[in-house]
Amino acid sequence: MLRTHTCGELRLDHVNQEVTLSGWVQRVRNKGGLVWVDLRDRYGITQLIFEEGSTDKALLEKAAELGREFVVQATGTVIERTSKNDKIPTGSIEIKATDLQVLNAAKVPPFIIEDDTDGGEELRMKYRYLDLRRNVVREKLHLRHRMMQETRKYMDAEHFMEVETPVLIKSTPEGARDFVVPSRVNPGEFYALPQSPQTFKQLLMVSGFDRYFQIVKCFRDEDLRADRQPEFTQIDCEMAFVEQEDILSTFEGLTKHLFANVKGVELEEVKRMTYADAMKYYGNDKPDLRFDMKFVELNELAQGKGFGIFDNAELVVGICAKGAAEYTRKQLDAITDWVKRPQIGAKGMVYAKYNADGTIKSTVDKFYSQEDLQAWASAFEAEPGDLMLILSGDANKVRKQLSELRLKMGEDLGLRDRNVFKPLWVVDFPLLEWDEETERYHAMHHPFTSPKKEDIPLLDSDPGAVRANAYDLVINGVEIGGGSIRIHDRATQQLMFKHLGFTDEEAQKQFGFLMEAFEYGAPPHGGIAFGFDRLCAIFGGSDSIRDYIAFPKNNSGRDVMIDSPSSIAPEQLGELSIQLNIKK
Ligand code: AMO
Repeated sequence: MLRTHTCGELRLDHVNQEVTLSGWVQRVRNKGGLVWVDLRDRYGITQLIFEEGSTDKALLEKAAELGREFVVQATGTVIERTSKNDKIPTGSIEIKATDLQVLNAAKVPPFIIEDDTDGGEELRMKYRYLDLRRNVVREKLHLRHRMMQETRKYMDAEHFMEVETPVLIKSTPEGARDFVVPSRVNPGEFYALPQSPQTFKQLLMVSGFDRYFQIVKCFRDEDLRADRQPEFTQIDCEMAFVEQEDILSTFEGLTKHLFANVKGVELEEVKRMTYADAMKYYGNDKPDLRFDMKFVELNELAQGKGFGIFDNAELVVGICAKGAAEYTRKQLDAITDWVKRPQIGAKGMVYAKYNADGTIKSTVDKFYSQEDLQAWASAFEAEPGDLMLILSGDANKVRKQLSELRLKMGEDLGLRDRNVFKPLWVVDFPLLEWDEETERYHAMHHPFTSPKKEDIPLLDSDPGAVRANAYDLVINGVEIGGGSIRIHDRATQQLMFKHLGFTDEEAQKQFGFLMEAFEYGAPPHGGIAFGFDRLCAIFGGSDSIRDYIAFPKNNSGRDVMIDSPSSIAPEQLGELSIQLNIKK
């Protein structure tokens, strides 16, 4: 080994020991006859000292000439520092150096490798290997590592078997576009990268594996956002001989295990909410329950009083922001402008302030008496000092808009504390979702999800009303995971494909293998997949999953460090029997 200790290890107990450390030069301070070098590795920073008189002159000069990020090996004696640094664990000691070897010189890095860096996002991504030297970045990946280990620990203890499934497969219908890989030996044919191992894990249940899991890369060619990457990781799980309740309790167990063992947080009982209630009260299938601010529908109280905008609306609905009646006119105008931005799309906003003196002042006083407004206030369970914010219009649209406003108000009022965790199971998702573009129903989760038995008769008469045995795990307004109890017989699976607009031939061609497997003794089964990157980001208190991925892609799906995607040589295209037809 090129060291006896790491740079985070030495304490007063080690005083007088001869040690050898290796690492990167964080900083050199040269006070004439005295040179200090901060030596850094993954474990910490240790100070080396070179002093005129007691240190050899050549060695002192060598130390003074070290540059930032040089890789060096230093030998010396551990001594107690005269002025201690209580900000770092090694701050009570330093190494009086007797030898120094430069193992490798370094160019001046393009940005400062410290917690507060001067490097912009683009530059840091181009030199990601340098960015990863920064403590704040490395700690995030360390958190990810610990999450992974604790996940494996829990799953193994619960008798889940980790099985790897193939990466070169055929399209899985999870709703996004596939990344495809041309096959050289089968000209004109393509593999698809898995959007998830969904069909394989179901086949493993048919094989009798009983409990499967895998920490697995998935690939989806979709629009990127802070919580979406084209390649991301799932904790993918499946269980046989279970009902929904078994899955919820097993994975509530995993969630609690991770919070307890990685964050030291004892999680409370995970609440449950139906999809219908989530939409009605939060306008969203992933409500952030760190704060209340439930939707209150006002149609009955607000319509028929001569205010045309409310009278003509399908839905009049609002939220009550506790203690926000103090908002100034300017602040309220800013919120109105905010909801009117095209991204939100509201036409306007009505507000009513419940003043400390018990009167209510609204933007629509012309149409509503104090008595009317008091009736609104009791619907909101508002108290003096509260602010009521109301939107109206098409029901689906207005719920979405109010949901955004609710989150904004939660943020503005400091109610979205990153150290508070409110997990929630959203259950009873609809089986099907109408797609305006293709004018047909799509599976809301995926086509292998089973409908609730009692709703099957509705499949013909009112497909949109059929509920599925599907559930999502939501934490603080983020969809962390989703799953379902599956269909496990050929007839129901065929019926499902029919309702999704597949002909029998298409269903057979794409999923014949699965339906056939169901004819060879498929046990009832179900499962879930957690978005592992999102889970890490929630644990780390960040909105962006990119920070928790060692080598992420940027918002255009590019890796700017290796410059990918990139074109390939004409010979390679030829081998793959591919002709490009790109119009520039
Ligand atoms: P689903 O499509 O809901 O279910 O995905 C499971 C979870 O994966 C995460 N996720 C993503 N994370 C980062 N970037 C992305 N592009 C991305 N897409 C999804 C989310 C999501 O909740 N096979 C089913 C699971 C099952 O039924 O068992 C599936 O993949 O956190």
